[in-house]
Amino acid sequence: MPWVALLLAVGGVALLSAFLLLLYLASLVTSPKPLALSGAHVVVTGGSSGIGKSIAVECFKQGAFITLLARNESRLLEAKKEIEKYAVNDKQVVHCISVDVSKDYANVERVLKQAQEKLGPVDMLVNSAGTSVTGKFEDLNTKNFEELMSVNYLGSVYPTHAVITTMKERRMGRIVFVSSQAGQLGLFGYTAYSATKFALRGLAEALQMEVKPYNVYITVAYPPDTDTPGFAEESKTKLLETRLISEASPVCKPDHVARIIVKDATQGKFGSSVGTDGHMLNVITTGMSPMTSLGEALEAIICTGFFRLLSHYYTASFDNIVRRCMIQKEKSEKMD
Ligand SMILES: NC(=O)c1ccc[n+]([C@@H]2O[C@H](COP(=O)([O-])OP(=O)(O)OC[C@H]3O[C@@H](n4cnc5c(N)ncnc54)[C@H](OP(=O)(O)O)[C@@H]3O)[C@@H](O)[C@H]2O)c1
Ligand SMILES: *[C@@H]1O[C@H](CO)[C@@H](O)[C@H](O)[C@H]1NC(C)=O
Repeated sequence: MPWVALLLAVGGVALLSAFLLLLYLASLVTSPKPLALSGAHVVVTGGSSGIGKSIAVECFKQGAFITLLARNESRLLEAKKEIEKYAVNDKQVVHCISVDVSKDYANVERVLKQAQEKLGPVDMLVNSAGTSVTGKFEDLNTKNFEELMSVNYLGSVYPTHAVITTMKERRMGRIVFVSSQAGQLGLFGYTAYSATKFALRGLAEALQMEVKPYNVYITVAYPPDTDTPGFAEESKTKLLETRLISEASPVCKPDHVARIIVKDATQGKFGSSVGTDGHMLNVITTGMSPMTSLGEALEAIICTGFFRLLSHYYTASFDNIVRRCMIQKEKSEKMD
């Protein structure tokens, strides 16, 4: 029966091609050696509060030495006391520096030099200092756009610039940029904020290509809404539309978010997401960003289309919220 032989031959060729493709893909993916945090020097900007503080705690629990950067000294000291409770040996130190990471690069460079004289070269830098303002585009002040770009974007560029040369020389290091889910998709009310968080992704991709041969790995974290003092502050002035859209996903605990970020960063994973929604969002927004495991690469190839299909449900429901709010508003204006 010649058609059986033909079928077998075609099947064999298909299997062999799939296998060769897999091998080729595997050869393209570089998996970094995990960074051990015990004895490492970890610098956390925005380490006095919220996600940054939880990241510092998580690293401290794994035996790291910590430098915290933030502006407010009393909050820095409070955070230091809290983090020190989690010491795993008596050599560990939490060093605090009061500095505005978004202003005066020379000063940022100077304080990071001092920190390195104290605790050694930086093994991992976590850029978590950030802030947010929400509101409709036309209601936001143009100053808001400048401020957010300066804190969220330049406030991550400066510390990174101050440590990258030494990392390249030592042929080791990790840099984390704390972006946001709003850095993966734009949402109502986040015109100023989203742009700064998208900017981090572009910076991270370009920088990763430069430093990969030096064994330095970059992680961009995309946390969902997280229960922090910063989030509480932002919630006070959130528009109805933004609030209703946010309610599509639950608010996370900072410790949970921090554990995931630290794990992904030590493993050198480029994108770091939280939860099932976050994971799917990460897969469909991956684009041409670097992959650090074959599983990750395959998942993107196989699942992107299906996840993209699901995403239409979300965008449609968000658009619906916005339309309903607009109609409500017009009705109540007519009543007045
Ligand atoms: N919470 C969320 O729902 C959420 C979701 C996605 C992404 N994120 C991002 O995660 C990061 C942390 O957010 P969070 O909610 O944990 O914030 P948070 O509780 O408001 O803490 C912000 C930290 O950054 C510091 N900081 C702010 N501006 C600074 C500056 N110019 N120079 C130095 N330090 C500065 C603050 O200290 P000082 O004020 O004393 O300087 C504080 O330690 C931010 O980048 C945020 O955009 C948060
Ligand atoms: C620093 O933080 C403390 C505690 O949150 C607050 O009472 C104080 O006003 C802040 N200081 C400045 C200069 O913002």
